[in-house]
Amino acid sequence: MKILILNCSPVRIGATGKICSLIAEGLSETHEVKQVCIDDYSFAFCTGCRLCHETGKCVLKEDGADQLAKEMEKAEAIVCVSPSYWADVPGQFKAFIDRMTLYSNTHDPHASLGDSKLGFSAVLRTGSSRKECERLQETISHFYSHLDILSLAGVSMTEVENREDVDKYANELEAFVRTIKNVLAEAVRIRRIAAFEKLYDDLKKAVERNDVSDHTEEIMKKLSAYYETDWKEDFEADESGRIPQKMKRGVLSEDGLYDLLEAYEEQRS
Ligand SMILES: Cc1cc2nc3c(=O)[nH]c(=O)nc-3n(C[C@H](O)[C@H](O)[C@H](O)COP(=O)(O)O)c2cc1C
Repeated sequence: MKILILNCSPVRIGATGKICSLIAEGLSETHEVKQVCIDDYSFAFCTGCRLCHETGKCVLKEDGADQLAKEMEKAEAIVCVSPSYWADVPGQFKAFIDRMTLYSNTHDPHASLGDSKLGFSAVLRTGSSRKECERLQETISHFYSHLDILSLAGVSMTEVENREDVDKYANELEAFVRTIKNVLAEAVRIRRIAAFEKLYDDLKKAVERNDVSDHTEEIMKKLSAYYETDWKEDFEADESGRIPQKMKRGVLSEDGLYDLLEAYEEQRS
């Protein structure tokens, strides 16, 4: 599988760079890995013109932001590794996120990076509180979610100022690489669960609104077919801990899907 590791720090060979290399080393035993740094790309700031909200295209001249987006497009999995700069991601990476608004699923039409990708994050900071790391994880997950990248696992490191400080996280990083490998081995299943989770949410909303239409019938048929086929295997995979904790999976809750299909049937009749 093609994996892109993005060093979100403008420092190529600092602590963040070392973490990127360690992750790349572990993953390249079994996968095709490309490492890039946000500082490899030079690009203009988003001007906030919002034209991409209507067109799915950016009016700015093609630059490094488009090149980096192309790298993301080529990858099936993405690992963002970010230090804390003022309690959030570095400005360079934030500026890139802004430039990706043309890809945001909050507007239609929007550009697409292709089939939903698998997303991972590693964050680090010099201070000791983990709360700040959660904020960085949140920023990256938010970015992923609007690009239809599934946010599947993350690791947080505190009290890291320079490359040497990374050594104390050797075990955590090894475990993180193992987690990524396990998730990638279940990629087909994970994408399937994510797709049915979306339909499950849509039908739940339709039931709340008392909505019965051709569209909801279509969703119901797909969910019923899933329940009769792969659902049990996915449920068991979840029970045996093979589905990442971070993943939203109401569709796999013991009676959730069965009850929802019943509720929809009742509403229809
Ligand atoms: C401009 C700047 C702002 C920073 N802000 C924070 C911060 O708010 N909280 C924190 O814990 N560490 C902060 N740090 C420390 C970095 O997160 C830490 O040194 C990290 O290891 C830097 O990795 P790098 O050298 O690979 O970029 C900051 C560092 C810089 C250069």
